[in-house]
Amino acid sequence: MSSKKYILGNWKMNKNLAEITKFFASFNKHLITNNKIKYGFAPTYLGLGLASNLKKGQTFIIAQDVCEQEEGSYTGQISCKQLKDYKINYAIVGHSETRKFLGCTDQMVNKKVKVCLANKITPIVCIGESLQQYNKHQTKDVLAKQLKTIFNGVDDSKCIVAYEPLWAIGTGKTPTLKEITTICTHLKKFVQHTPILYGGSVNENNAIDIVTLKNVDGLLIGGASLCPDKFNKILKEVNKWTRK
Ligand code: PGA
Repeated sequence: MSSKKYILGNWKMNKNLAEITKFFASFNKHLITNNKIKYGFAPTYLGLGLASNLKKGQTFIIAQDVCEQEEGSYTGQISCKQLKDYKINYAIVGHSETRKFLGCTDQMVNKKVKVCLANKITPIVCIGESLQQYNKHQTKDVLAKQLKTIFNGVDDSKCIVAYEPLWAIGTGKTPTLKEITTICTHLKKFVQHTPILYGGSVNENNAIDIVTLKNVDGLLIGGASLCPDKFNKILKEVNKWTRK
């Protein structure tokens, strides 16, 4: 089990440069120092440079996606090499919104993971079941199948997995605590040495209960990560918990 807790914010297509500046002006006032917590934010590609300049302390900056190709004729895409210019060492891959709106598949995620690792970028691999699959009790099988394709020919211990039920993203609904820990424990059978995060409607009120569950190594937070006070509150509680 990973001894660190990852608390990561996915800003999606939110915040322009002025808003990023405002965010860090507030967030940086209450930075915590704790080597048992790793925390960072994923702005859009256009915000990576500014966010990297404004971040302080332990905060690190994450890309929201990366192209599975090294370079070439891939209009609209960004390569690992280009992320490296901004000293980006983490990239989210296979987020459900890139699957839904940009046609990303498990096979593509497998390639993205490989290109990330070849460029010393840690991929944060998102997997999750649909509401229909959840209702049919297919979650465990769906996730196992995703992991099999995505980690084919890959050293998974160099990756991070984020379990994000599609029906929980941005909906205010979450699985029960028992379901989250059961699923994350199931995932550990396939990826023993890989940190497993939970994502989907995590907020400042439910974060501490989820992140302290057995076999949950952290959180991937969308909506609640946009507000510095909410994110700081989550970090403060996790900080307190790690020092108990
Ligand atoms: P949410 O998003 O916290 O707003 O549900 C999570 C995610 O998409 O990673």
